[in-house]
This record gives sequence, C-alpha cells and structure tokens, in this order.
Amino acid sequence: MSDNLIEIRHLKKFFNIGKNQTLKAVNDVSFNIRKGETLGVVGESGCGKSTAGRTILRLYEPTDGEVKFGGTNIYKLSGSKMKALRREMQMIFQDPYASLNPRMTIQDIIGEALDIHNLAGSKVERKRRVEELLDLVGLNPDHATRYPHEFSGGQRQRIGIARALAVDPKFIICDEPISALDVSIQAQVVNLLQELQRKLGLTYLFIAHDLSMVKHISDRVAVMYLGKVVEIAESSELYANPTHPYTKALLSAIPIPDPDIEATRERIVLSGDLPSPVNPPSGCHFRTRCPLASEKCATMEPPLRETKSGHWTACHFA
Ligand SMILES: Nc1ncnc2c1ncn2[C@@H]1O[C@H](COP(=O)(O)OP(=O)(O)OP(=O)(O)O)[C@@H](O)[C@H]1O
Ligand SMILES: [Mg+2]
Repeated sequence: MSDNLIEIRHLKKFFNIGKNQTLKAVNDVSFNIRKGETLGVVGESGCGKSTAGRTILRLYEPTDGEVKFGGTNIYKLSGSKMKALRREMQMIFQDPYASLNPRMTIQDIIGEALDIHNLAGSKVERKRRVEELLDLVGLNPDHATRYPHEFSGGQRQRIGIARALAVDPKFIICDEPISALDVSIQAQVVNLLQELQRKLGLTYLFIAHDLSMVKHISDRVAVMYLGKVVEIAESSELYANPTHPYTKALLSAIPIPDPDIEATRERIVLSGDLPSPVNPPSGCHFRTRCPLASEKCATMEPPLRETKSGHWTACHFA
C-alpha cells in the first residue's frame, strides 16, 4: 500500500476568458499528499491555489491530468460513485461570512450535509449528530437553532469546520481558513484544526498566502508561482534551505522577532510585476522577476527535480 492518500499528476485547469484567450490558472502540477499529513500550499494572490484545490476535489472539471484518491482516478468516476467519494473530501473556505447561508440555522447548515448523503436516519438522530459536531468544534450544542449572524467570525469558522466534518471525511482542503479572522482568534482555529486532525486521523491541504502562517501547521510545503509548483519540501527543510529564488524572496519578506537579527535581515525585493496567467513568460515562468535569470531560462522550462532527498525544485540553478 502506498503512503499517499492523493496523487496529483500533470493537473491543468485553464479558463476560457473570451476573445480566444485562455487563462492558465493551474498549469501542469504534480505532487502527492500523504495519509495523515498537512501539506501547506503558499504563493501570492492569483497563483492558482484555490483553483488547484477546487480541481483536486473535482468542484471544477480539469483541463487535463489526473487526481488519484486512494488509488482511484476521481475524474473517471461516474455520478453515483463520484457522489459517494465526495463524502471523503471536504473543503473549509476563507470567508466564514460568505460561506454560511444567513437564512439557515446552524442545525440546518450542518444537517444539510448529513441529508445530502443520507447520514441521519431520523430527526432525533440528525439533532444528536449536529450537537455532537458542535461539541467537537468547541461550540455550545444548545445554540444549534441560532443563525450565523449571532456568532463571531471565529465561531462561524468553527461552524464551517463542523459542516465539513459532518460527513466524516478523510481529506480536507483548508482554503485560507484563518486569513479573514482577527489575529487573536487565528491561533485558536489553527489549534482546533490540529486537534481534530489528531483525533480523527485527517489529511489536510492547507492553503495560505504567506509562509509564516503555514510553517507550524505543515509537515511539507509546496510553493506555487503562476500556476506551477516551483518548490516542495519538508517544512523545516524548506525554511532552513530554500533553493528556489522565489521561495527565498518569500522567506526574506518574513520579519524576524529578534531586533538585532531583524536589523541585518536582507530583503529580496522582486523586480517587475506578476505576469498574467494568460500570457506567461516562455521557459521558466519566474524568469522575468528572477535575480538569477539567464538565456537558458527563457528557452527551457526547468522541470521540478529532486535536488536532495524529498526536496524538489524547479530551477536550473538549484
Ligand atoms: N472561474 C474563473 N474564471 C476565470 N478565471 C478564473 C476563475 N477562477 C480563478 N480564475 C483566475 O485564475 C487565476 C488563479 O486564481 P485562484 O483564485 O486560484 O488564485 P489563488 O492563488 O487562490 O489567489 P488568492 O490568494 O487571491 O486566493 C487568477 O488569475 C484568477 O483570476
Ligand atoms: Mg484563493
């Protein structure tokens, strides 16, 4: 048996945006997610993190490529089989305000997930299960008949987590689950997610903008740039020995708490703007902003290669 819960191969998701133009949101991405691990995915806005997440769950149909869940290629599954598999894979969204229906009670928001998969035999059973889930995420089960607006941002995110857990999934994509929350609340939600992972044996794909946020929660981290994974490694290895110039730049942007070290911190400021995913640069997509770029980078796309055991980088100079 493989240690991988999910195997992603050459995944592409392009959007047709009219005038014969194609936006390459996810452009040939391959990686594995191991059972029980948290894989962090970082990269600046628009690099394709959410699109990759949605395509991995088949909320979007892929343009090309393969996603295997427990060895099964999910894009080959027909309606009923796909529906059954959807139970195993859930998503927690960035905005706990927008992702909960304001006209539904908490009981019905969570209960709806149970209904879709026929998981509650009776009304009593449904109520019992909703209360159990609220308790699991640290909310008062007596509040099941309240509406989303009666809860704080952190509590609403807990409701979103309870909804995802209702169907007993194996895998959850957390798409920037804490970035809309007050800093003071963020750690509580991260702690809850980690506790649930231990208790329930969950596997996470954890999407975030910045590297400092995923450092502690992730076992491994993948860095994306313009629809591609440019580096992937164990979390501690990536932070200690980044090899891709883009990762180095991202890391150099993180302030260091020690004022003496902070004073000597060398910031790598990237030149130029983020190119459009409609017309990405030839060769290496990062070359237009890369301090190391040479002629080779314009003509040859660097493949993601293993430069050290478990450490993969897509750079000609790594
Ligand atoms: N449904 C869509 N139709 C057309 N283009 C889309 C669609 N969804 C996303 N895009 C484009 O695909 C690219 C990747 O978007 P995506 O939302 O995946 O990025 P992201 O990394 O999640 O960004 P953020 O950090 O801001 O959430 C962007 O250029 C975006 O404009
Ligand atoms: Mg996103």
